[in-house]
Amino acid sequence: MDRRAWEERARTEDAKDPLSAYRSEFYRPLETIYLDGNSLGLLSRPAEAALLHALDEWRCLGVGGWGGGDPAWFHLAERIGALEAPLVGAEPEEVVAAASTTLNLHQLLSTFYRPDGARRVLLCDPLNFPSDRYAIESHLRLRGEDPAACLREVPSRDGRTLSAADILASLGEDVALAVLPAVLYRSGQLLDVRGVTEAAHARGALIGWDLSHAAGAVPLQLHDDGADFAFWCNYKYLGGGPGAAASLFVHRRHFDRTPGLWGWFGSRKDRQFDMLQTFEAASGAGAYQTGTPHILAMAPLLGALPLIGRAGITAIREKSLRQTSLLIEMGDDLLRPLGFTVGTPRAAGQRGAHVAFEHPEGARIARALKACGVVPDFRPPDVVRLGPNPLYTSFSEIARAVLRMLEVVESGVYLRHAAERDEIA
Ligand SMILES: Cc1ncc(COP(=O)(O)O)c(C=O)c1O
Repeated sequence: MDRRAWEERARTEDAKDPLSAYRSEFYRPLETIYLDGNSLGLLSRPAEAALLHALDEWRCLGVGGWGGGDPAWFHLAERIGALEAPLVGAEPEEVVAAASTTLNLHQLLSTFYRPDGARRVLLCDPLNFPSDRYAIESHLRLRGEDPAACLREVPSRDGRTLSAADILASLGEDVALAVLPAVLYRSGQLLDVRGVTEAAHARGALIGWDLSHAAGAVPLQLHDDGADFAFWCNYKYLGGGPGAAASLFVHRRHFDRTPGLWGWFGSRKDRQFDMLQTFEAASGAGAYQTGTPHILAMAPLLGALPLIGRAGITAIREKSLRQTSLLIEMGDDLLRPLGFTVGTPRAAGQRGAHVAFEHPEGARIARALKACGVVPDFRPPDVVRLGPNPLYTSFSEIARAVLRMLEVVESGVYLRHAAERDEIA
């Protein structure tokens, strides 16, 4: 298909896009095609208003915001949890906003990793975001377990994806806990959360999911799928802003557990200000908080989450699949002859919301794209990730971005850029 035909197809898709009105709700960097929503989502007008509202409350109420804010800051973490719950298929009390993704994983490991007799293995994978791996390994060390004996990785046959067969084969009777990503951060592979959760349980293991690349991008059913816990960041598809507080999910059937790490914000709300020296955990996911919630790093979510809720996760996913299809089809047609490989699974049920284009000169190409107004990101060794967000990316922008990628490689312009990766990409 020639270039104009791809642009025409993109225009046709835009014309029938039911979510096109949401684009104007976002601040889009001028003359830029922003395809890095899978790293940091753009600021929406409701998120901005919610943050300004919190600042106003700080200005006008001072400490009174804890009780008199709207909503009261004292309950904000739980309130955000309740707003997020439908997006991840959870009950309101099963989700809370707290800390960072990595710290929440530490908290959840301290609670759910319970080695017992021969069942001591913590199962992870070699393709997960490194911070998860660091948390897992350091946790094992802290507990006096030997990572060489207790840490198992599901092997990856192609360095991009995990196969269901290999996950099942790794889930031996010695696995106490598995921690896996629902969507892999590099290839964008979407795992079968329900199937893997059921398999883990059938073998007597617990399982927790990193939803950082899934929450707000693909519909999830954490409660019904029976996941034991999950954790994710709020700055990608959920629009909470740089360094936004993260979130976690704990299945209701675990509400009788006491969290591993205690802090006063995990207390029963009605007793927290009794200031007793004995810890009484809150009854839901709120118990997994520790210190004072980061109000200003949560406030934007009060605007962003209802916006996502209005658009609806089903419509978001439907458009996202059409957008990633366009990327993959254009990649196959135009970029493959230039040495690109699509590293993302093609089946709709097996891919998340971004597409990985692999190229030996990926670092240079990503730089060249940024220099001409397309913002992708680069993940070593060779992946240029393109992450459209259905709420603010148009199909025409996607087509233009792929055509620019074609141009920077065809023209050799990318060779003018350094091959070293950016420090912050
Ligand atoms: C899949 C995944 N897990 C964990 C993290 C770490 O998150 P945080 O820096 O919020 O701890 C990230 C960050 O991008 C991520 O993509």
